[in-house]
Amino acid sequence: MSTRPIRFVHRGAVVEVDGAPTTRSVLDWLREDARCTGTKEGCNEGDCGACTVVVAELAERGEVVGTASASATIVGALSLHTVNACIQFLPTLDGKALLTVEDLQRIASAARAPAAATAAVPLHPVQQALVECHASQCGFCTPGFVMSLASVYERHTEHGTRPSRQQLADELSGNLCRCTGYRPILDAGQRMFELPPARLDGAAIAAMLRTLRADPPLDYTAPNPANGAVERFTAPRGVDALAAAYSERPQARLLAGCTDIGLWVTKQFRALPDLIALTEVDALKRIDEADGVLRIGAGASLENAWSALAARIPALTDVWLRFASPPIRNAGTMGGNVANGSPIGDSAPVLMALGARVVLRRGAAQRTLALDALYTGYMKNRLEAGEFVEAIEVPLPNAATAVRAYKLSKRFDCDISALCAGLAIELDGDTVREARFAFGGMAAVVARAVNAEAAVRGQPWTEATVQAAMAALDADFAPLTDMRGSAGYRRRSARNLLQRLWLETRRENPLPPAATSVWSVMPHEALA
Ligand code: FAD
Ligand code: FES
Ligand code: FES
Repeated sequence: MSTRPIRFVHRGAVVEVDGAPTTRSVLDWLREDARCTGTKEGCNEGDCGACTVVVAELAERGEVVGTASASATIVGALSLHTVNACIQFLPTLDGKALLTVEDLQRIASAARAPAAATAAVPLHPVQQALVECHASQCGFCTPGFVMSLASVYERHTEHGTRPSRQQLADELSGNLCRCTGYRPILDAGQRMFELPPARLDGAAIAAMLRTLRADPPLDYTAPNPANGAVERFTAPRGVDALAAAYSERPQARLLAGCTDIGLWVTKQFRALPDLIALTEVDALKRIDEADGVLRIGAGASLENAWSALAARIPALTDVWLRFASPPIRNAGTMGGNVANGSPIGDSAPVLMALGARVVLRRGAAQRTLALDALYTGYMKNRLEAGEFVEAIEVPLPNAATAVRAYKLSKRFDCDISALCAGLAIELDGDTVREARFAFGGMAAVVARAVNAEAAVRGQPWTEATVQAAMAALDADFAPLTDMRGSAGYRRRSARNLLQRLWLETRRENPLPPAATSVWSVMPHEALA
């Protein structure tokens, strides 16, 4: 039986939920149980943003080294981040606070001058700005935009900063609108800072979260009416406790950010009778740098992990901002991306090019493996039963090493790659000392292009050398044709990405990335 109900803060009070299936989505609970129907359901798979909500945690729990994450928002004692309610399971809210579009009215009322007590309740600045900028037509997407903008509003108001239009566009890359168009929505994202302020009362929420911290770790069971099975959700609080639980129940499914697993339920209707969550293991969220190695805890959010990598290797900024969307990057983890092992996962190619290693833990035993030795076949890896990824160790490149990451996808934002390349070249004068070329989307697993690497290693870094590497790719990969790209497209593109690497890193007249990217010639006035 459950040790206790799921407990979280919602609408200014601690809510207890018992008896709900462990895989009940936050969105279904909001709309069907809590009758908070302001949060909408569009795609039910994390793609459209209609279900965006904000989750608040105590900031001291997320120890992150390096740049503050672009999307997580530190407001007073709270860390706020947007997530997609449709693919988050209800037990993941335990010990946290859930903010939805309905909360904005409470924030706006609390901010209203007492003298105006009789006047109609004002809208929150975000909502008021959307109205004034005519940034909503059918309104179906609007609550999702409101919550994404509210998170941006809190962060920038807290720090006295203002987002550029491009930063606003990046923040909203997880929110799709089908009828308004984005210019008025971006206008509203700027207008909201000019209106009378209304701020979240972080202190009251933090006080409630601290009382929840006194609860014992969640070990929750409930019957699933769909199949009658009793399902279990365990959220240990330390790495040792996690290792012990997973050793004891190796048949359980590890749950990190739920951004892959969530769709197994919402789209594939899979039963997940036994979940062990990493979400409460703060030590796994740490990102530390020592002796030229960045150690990314397996539970570090994609947002924090990618922002820490891009802070040290600015060439990774593009693939960071094009990895899914802010709500997905806030919930998803780099450990999950690596462990999931999708052939078009975007972290692995970049991490392989950097020579990353995975630290694996099973009970008290730990071992380290080169990432490019982890995968054994389509969605298969070398993890033993009860073994999990504890951390990813990334050697930071030396000054002689150029790193590039190129993501090719149909949509610029929030799209699965047709192929993704992680490329690193270390030069000793004009000669190539070391090369690591890794590709996703070219085979059943993300893999290094060992023949192309061999074609350049020890050679002068010339166009003739890169042409030889381009030709050698045919010995590395025999890509498939699928809905994201044909085999011919993938072969040609992979070759061209090697040439692009050379154009950007050749000794004479290296081209700036803007000169080799089709996106840089996009009509940016659309954002102006
Ligand atoms: P979960 O869903 O929690 O788990 C995924 C798998 O990994 C499960 O099998 C789980 O058991 C296992 N696992 C998790 N953590 C560990 C661990 N520490 N040790 C061992 N096993 C573990 N992916 C991309 O690469 N690029 C994209 O652009 C992209 N866009 C997306 C857009 C949308 C809308 C969605 C819904 C997903 C997208 N994804 C993308 C996929 C997904 O977000 C990533 O794979 C994410 O990193 C998964 O991490 P998670 O923490 O959510 O994993
Ligand atoms: Fe589309 Fe959740 S309903 S992202
Ligand atoms: Fe209709 Fe955005 S206002 S989908």
